[in-house]
Amino acid sequence: MALAVRPLSYALGAEVLDVDLSRPLTESRFGEIYRAFLDHGILLLRGQKISREQHIEFSRRFGELDRHDSLPRDRHPEYPELLMVSNLPQPDGAPSNSRYTGQLWHSDLSFTLMPSLGSLLRGVEVPPVGGDTMFANMYLAYDALSAGMKGLIADLHGVHSPERKNAGMSPEWEKENRLLNPPVAQPVVRVHPETGRKALYIGEKVKAFEGMTDEESVPLIDYLIRHSTRPQFLYRHQWRPDDIVIWDNRCTMHVALGDYDPTLRRHMERTTVMGTPSGHVASDAVAH
Ligand code: OGA
Ligand code: MN
Repeated sequence: MALAVRPLSYALGAEVLDVDLSRPLTESRFGEIYRAFLDHGILLLRGQKISREQHIEFSRRFGELDRHDSLPRDRHPEYPELLMVSNLPQPDGAPSNSRYTGQLWHSDLSFTLMPSLGSLLRGVEVPPVGGDTMFANMYLAYDALSAGMKGLIADLHGVHSPERKNAGMSPEWEKENRLLNPPVAQPVVRVHPETGRKALYIGEKVKAFEGMTDEESVPLIDYLIRHSTRPQFLYRHQWRPDDIVIWDNRCTMHVALGDYDPTLRRHMERTTVMGTPSGHVASDAVAH
């Protein structure tokens, strides 16, 4: 029987029905899931009561997993393939490092030379209302630009900073983050290595275009983000416990809305599939 899928929004996303990740998955079934991933950009699998090992094992079928060396504070101490996105306090009672993770429009690991192919986020504990994640289809965003704008951005590179919107980041941590992750320039238009389609590659971690001043860059960055996040390009995910959401980082971007009561528990765990090399250390960063 063909894989049953249900679209999540007009722009992107599909729910995969009748798949139980706690049971063995044949090669041909996985092939259909991967095809759906390429076609829809986002996949949702509900009601997946799986262990950490099963999450990792399923994720490996998409490709080699990142061990999160660029984000060492957020990975699980025993499972480096698992990145914690959690507001649960640390064992010593200190607030979680990752409680604001993802609260800027971004594509995972865009600030590294090996941006992610895709991520698989498991909703372990989710608040009863809110804590949503929003996704944008960057193929559609690119396609909708005028020929003039496509020409203007064709050869631009955006400088991606590892900066996080994180009120709680200590000066030491910020320093460590900057040393681990010097700013990286990525093409603003990326060709998806598997579908061959062009997608906009931009986000709120882009501080300037390479070879341009901040002043010159910011209006165009703002425009491209505003354009890409028009409602018709979006899917907004409302989490339920045991949801797994899988996204293609090469043709979508996403944001954690933080629209929930922070006194309630929200705990998610992510695996990150490694992509192909992209970008270069930003020339400005080399000069200084
Ligand atoms: C992530 C991320 C968003 C969220 O895990 O990469 O951006 O809503 N998470 O937790
Ligand atoms: Mn993210």
